[in-house]
Amino acid sequence: MATRTACIAANWKMYKTVGEAVEFVRKLREKIETFDDREVVIAPPFTSLYALKDLVKGAGISLAGQNCHWEEKGAFTGEISPVMLKDVGCSYTIVGHSERRQYFGENDEDINKKLKALIKVGIKPIFCIGEKLEEREAGKTFDVVKTQLDGGLKDLDSVDIAKMVVAYEPVWAIGTGKTASPEQAQEVHAFIREHLSMLTNKNVANEVRILYGGSVKPSNVDSLMSEPDIDGALVGGASLEVDSFLRIIRFEA
Ligand code: 13P
Repeated sequence: MATRTACIAANWKMYKTVGEAVEFVRKLREKIETFDDREVVIAPPFTSLYALKDLVKGAGISLAGQNCHWEEKGAFTGEISPVMLKDVGCSYTIVGHSERRQYFGENDEDINKKLKALIKVGIKPIFCIGEKLEEREAGKTFDVVKTQLDGGLKDLDSVDIAKMVVAYEPVWAIGTGKTASPEQAQEVHAFIREHLSMLTNKNVANEVRILYGGSVKPSNVDSLMSEPDIDGALVGGASLEVDSFLRIIRFEA
């Protein structure tokens, strides 16, 4: 049996000012216990990262960016590089979120460059994949996920892939209140692990954590986390309130 450390990650998207982010983390620090079987990650907007850098220290909380550029520096107005994210304390960064793919035109090639750039500076990517509703209804879920994995991981070797976290986020479940059932999610997670095993080997595939994202709530986290290939959650809306996020962190599988 693989012993993967669970990972509960908050994706705050475009929510919270610096003051709100600091207040959240102060409150979370007061209440959170020390865990040795799970990791907690917060991905605030870029503007709050620096303010949270010292506040998360010693609290068992890691910081993540929500996106990055693939170049180290340059004339790319409005962009943030992996080096800069590292500088403000990020150990993780979300890449290829469906909102980036949908609203900002990110494709598998861009995502591949971002994954490589992050690995180069020692930041662990949280690589997001997932199908749209029409793709699921057309029976294409596995094809879509496979194409996204192949494109995103192109030319990355087993050593690199072992450093990643994959997040399966069915687009139809994001912000809609419609969660994939634990069985639906498990089926895709098992497929992802199997495909990772073909791209690398069984050992690496067994090490990679695969998070589920899409309307994860205090009420459904326990059943999702009870599935063998669900190793954590990437949480949007329900991560914005301390008590709700804390209950998700305290999942019982
Ligand atoms: P919700 O939890 O709000 O559905 O968002 C999921 C998500 O997109 C996390 O990255």
